[in-house]
Amino acid sequence: MSKFYITTPIYYVNARPHLGSAYTTIAADILARWHRMKGEKVFFLTGTDEHGEKVAQAAQEQNITPHELCDRNSAKFKQVFDTLKISYDRFIRTTDRNHEDMVAHILKDLKKKKLIYAGAYEGLYCVGCERYYTVKELVDDKCPLHHQKPITLSENCYFFKLSVFKKPLLQLIRNNDWVIEPKERKNEVLGFLTSGELEDLAISREKVEWGIPIPWEKSQSVYVWIDALLNYLSGIGWDGKTKKWPEAWPPDVQLIGKDILRFHAIIWPAILLTLGAPLPKKLYAHGFLTSGGKKMGKSLGNIIDPEELAVTFGADALRWLLVSTFPFGSDGDISMSRFYDKYNADLSNGLGNLVRRVLTLATKNKDTFLPPSVSDVRFKQKINLVWQDYEKALDDFKFEAAVGHISNLITFCDRYIDHKKPWKLFKENKDSYQKVIYNLLESLRHLAWLINPFMPGKSNDIFKYLGIESAEKKKPLTQGQKWGQVDFIKVTQGEILFPKL
Ligand code: MSP
Repeated sequence: MSKFYITTPIYYVNARPHLGSAYTTIAADILARWHRMKGEKVFFLTGTDEHGEKVAQAAQEQNITPHELCDRNSAKFKQVFDTLKISYDRFIRTTDRNHEDMVAHILKDLKKKKLIYAGAYEGLYCVGCERYYTVKELVDDKCPLHHQKPITLSENCYFFKLSVFKKPLLQLIRNNDWVIEPKERKNEVLGFLTSGELEDLAISREKVEWGIPIPWEKSQSVYVWIDALLNYLSGIGWDGKTKKWPEAWPPDVQLIGKDILRFHAIIWPAILLTLGAPLPKKLYAHGFLTSGGKKMGKSLGNIIDPEELAVTFGADALRWLLVSTFPFGSDGDISMSRFYDKYNADLSNGLGNLVRRVLTLATKNKDTFLPPSVSDVRFKQKINLVWQDYEKALDDFKFEAAVGHISNLITFCDRYIDHKKPWKLFKENKDSYQKVIYNLLESLRHLAWLINPFMPGKSNDIFKYLGIESAEKKKPLTQGQKWGQVDFIKVTQGEILFPKL
């Protein structure tokens, strides 16, 4: 059985989940559901990133322990992910015992391989990002994300010999053995690697107590990014010792936002190379959601709460809107009026209206429609084409294109109704009426399959109204994709799927 293993980044536990952070996870969930639908063995990993100075500071401000803060906030992430119907297989927390133990093992291993050495680091550190910046990377002397001046930090620490990976990484990327998409992001990494020396990486911090201690020097703790990246291995149950990689390694894709590209495109593969682990098959960095033209994020105070939007639009519709309003690889400014317009156009007047129209026409006089002896070639071809385009789009992470193909089928059906006028046929030609309604019910069934990864709840509703819910759930996709073999024997009118807003 083929497999599909997918990861999202783990979310900073001291931030509230916002629409930007929900974006990566919703996209990953759509892919996970699509691959499960194809019958593949899926493992979908997400979770929370729980160590570091910021977490300790936040806990102190709230008069609670860092542990309490992490428990409370990671539970909040889980709750939001449940609301958004995220079907992860494991929710890893970097405070999980197996993760902490594994990180300690790996550090010892890297030291044994002489890839870690002691030194001192002085640099410009942004507390908001929990990372050092070079002068070149600052904008007007300020952190480009937080618009705050970084502080100068000087401390004893351990370094990881990242510099030795410059050449191998360049070669891997150029040969497409380390696949970074979309191509703008690949070029960005190549540009960075070729623009100067790749410096060794400070991987420990003094005085940060809320972190995983360096096993041989407990006064230091491991840099949060090293800790965090390793979740991808502990999250699938690797203990850091055996050389047998878990079945779910390597991932087929690691989805990230473009802000954390360098960590994932340079530091992460370097660690994997030292461990002798195969590299992920693909790293895909999507664009930013912006609000008022600025990256949506806690520190800029422009966040949109995904739970509120799920109340307004419903979780299913929100998932659809979020991935279809602009292409996945690009940035997109989120505006509520655009969401309302798109909701009304695609869902209320589009899919919802079509379902209502067909079910009303079908249930007016009877509730049973059997396949005609000869199936409609035009419909059969149309459906096959839609599936082909849709699959290609999803395999290329073009969610907006996949949604476009679904919408195209909806328009095709609407035009078919206008053209055939089944209400007239009912009076004039019962046989034709029967065939037309059958084609439309069959199209709704296909639409329910097609929207399933995006809107699992609404997909089920359509199956239910068509009276085929349990039968369709048992089918493999290849069976579901066939045209004209289902008997509709208990069609009901159902409820309005997407009330107008
Ligand atoms: N904890 C780190 C990741 C460690 S992974 C080893 C982190 N966390 S985060 O909570 O800030 O971001 C998590 C994900 O949400 C990232 O993929 C990030 O790009 C994404 N987004 C956060 N804000 C975003 C937008 N405004 N728009 C789109 N995605 C954004 O980084």
